[in-house]
Amino acid sequence: MTLQVQHFDGAIGAEILGADLSQTFDEADQKAMIDAWNTHSVLVFRDQTVTPEQFLRFSRYFGQLEVHVLEQYLHREHPEILVVSNILEDGKNIGIPDAGRYWHTDLSYLAEPSRGSILYAIEIPEEQGKTLGNTIWASTAAAYEALPVSQRTLIDGLKAEYSLGNRFTKLAEDGTKHIEMTEEQKAKTPSVVHPVVRTHPVTGRRGILVNEGHTTHIQDLPAKESQLLLEKLWAQCTKPEFTYRHEWRVGDVVMWDNTLTQHLAICDYALPQRRLLHRTTITGDRPY
Ligand code: SIN
Repeated sequence: MTLQVQHFDGAIGAEILGADLSQTFDEADQKAMIDAWNTHSVLVFRDQTVTPEQFLRFSRYFGQLEVHVLEQYLHREHPEILVVSNILEDGKNIGIPDAGRYWHTDLSYLAEPSRGSILYAIEIPEEQGKTLGNTIWASTAAAYEALPVSQRTLIDGLKAEYSLGNRFTKLAEDGTKHIEMTEEQKAKTPSVVHPVVRTHPVTGRRGILVNEGHTTHIQDLPAKESQLLLEKLWAQCTKPEFTYRHEWRVGDVVMWDNTLTQHLAICDYALPQRRLLHRTTITGDRPY
């Protein structure tokens, strides 16, 4: 294949042209994609048609895949695929309906958060020609680098607590219908402590890890001070100049590097408008 990397204007993202994800990639093409992923954080591949097996093969070029803790939303034949969807069958959600309602970094509530994720769009809602259910990614590296040196120095040594349950607590507070985690799922996901700022394992770039979805508080700060600082950092990450908004089309594959990004799924649709995506998740290391 002759791959072309066309980076977007702005702080984050690139489109990869000339890639057919249903085919195998040779080593040079795999390296070109991995380099682009490390550099641009979000990669968009348009007009793809892949079977679950082909999607998994493509995903494995970037690392080992992990099986999500919310097992009720896993693809029946391929547990490494997490179904993201608002579709109901027999009154039950076939996939996780609210995967990205808050700005978050995937699995940052685990001791070893995932390195990246890949979404394949199968059904996308729309209204009068307008695509709904967009996803926005933010470059937490660009956000960090834009902070004054004094603020960077202040947050560099801080640590924070991260928890999956935080997302469900927030949904409950907002009065949004949400899933209940089982006791076993809660036991598998105790709170973890990670730095407020993390380092990319390949490029060495640094970015803000604390995120609205999973961070409960910054350690060793009074509650109010912690909350004010978190809100400030979240607002910094999601300034428009650090973000890329993806308007989904059926057949899009979008992959991202979790190390230096946060993302948000816009929930501006409801049944009978259907949204269905498959997601794979690449294992990662402990943030530092
Ligand atoms: C996710 O957070 O993995 C899902 C994002 C989306 O539904 O657009």
